[in-house]
Amino acid sequence: MEAFMKLEGKIALVTGAASGIGRVIAETFVTLGVRVIFVDANPAVQDIASALGQIGLVGDITSADFRKSIFHWPEVTYGEPASIGVFAAGITRDGLALKSDKVSGKPILFDENKFDMVLNVNLKAPVYCALQMVARLSEAGHSDGGKVIFIGSISSEGNIGQVNYATSKAGLVAATKTLNLEWKKLGVKVAVIHPGFTATPMVAAMPPEALEKAVALVESGTIHSPQSVADAVLSVLESENPPDELFLDRFKHASSHRVEYVSAIPSRYLAKSV
Ligand SMILES: NC(=O)c1ccc[n+]([C@@H]2O[C@H](COP(=O)([O-])OP(=O)(O)OC[C@H]3O[C@@H](n4cnc5c(N)ncnc54)[C@H](O)[C@@H]3O)[C@@H](O)[C@H]2O)c1
Repeated sequence: MEAFMKLEGKIALVTGAASGIGRVIAETFVTLGVRVIFVDANPAVQDIASALGQIGLVGDITSADFRKSIFHWPEVTYGEPASIGVFAAGITRDGLALKSDKVSGKPILFDENKFDMVLNVNLKAPVYCALQMVARLSEAGHSDGGKVIFIGSISSEGNIGQVNYATSKAGLVAATKTLNLEWKKLGVKVAVIHPGFTATPMVAAMPPEALEKAVALVESGTIHSPQSVADAVLSVLESENPPDELFLDRFKHASSHRVEYVSAIPSRYLAKSV
């Protein structure tokens, strides 16, 4: 615990804090003396937070008004803005990108509502949480910088049946890199942590056979504990120079499409571009 003492007294806002990874991260912060705002759409978040002497806020993070209100709370309650944001709220709505109708054989495209829903919750909402948090820090003239952590996924490198989810998590990588370029001058650091399969209600909802097959596709071959994600969050917060992306596991297929850019282009095209 000694190594994490510098987090004591800081204010963190954690979304998805009623369940799974977000909850364990928020609870871990509390044990380290961090003042935590627990945020979730599930009303249980209020009891979870108040049992630990913390604030629990209920609402939908896809609502711009809700996002704005949650980042005012720390100032109202503690007189200063949150300088740590961990945006873990997320959903899945899985399915193959393209299927064919069993009777007619006609192609069926992935449901657009499910695509939009996952993009809104998993990508747009956490990015706008980050913008809102840093806007509050800037307005308050906070000199301590700030740390934003997005919870990505190993699916950001592609996964069958998750065209929407994988796209949302890959989007967080691009957002992280862009925000780091823009906010270097503010002393704000953004990182995206990619958990592997982790024992939470999200994974428990998968059919056991599908889960077994999926776990066989990752390098570790195991399901991780939510605490391991919380530990990764602490390591990023502790680090003076954390990486933009941190993978806690990886799909075996991911390494096969990591290629050297120039060597992958046939030379006839390279010649044309000179
Ligand atoms: N469990 C895994 O194997 C795994 C792997 C990689 C990444 N992740 C990511 O980790 C994060 C947490 O996942 P988890 O497994 O703990 O899931 P979970 O379902 O246990 O928890 C997600 C929480 O987010 C909340 N939430 C969902 N939509 C919301 C909204 N619109 N507004 C406010 N709250 C909302 C839910 O109420 C829930 O409490 C997600 O972003 C997920 O994509 C999970």
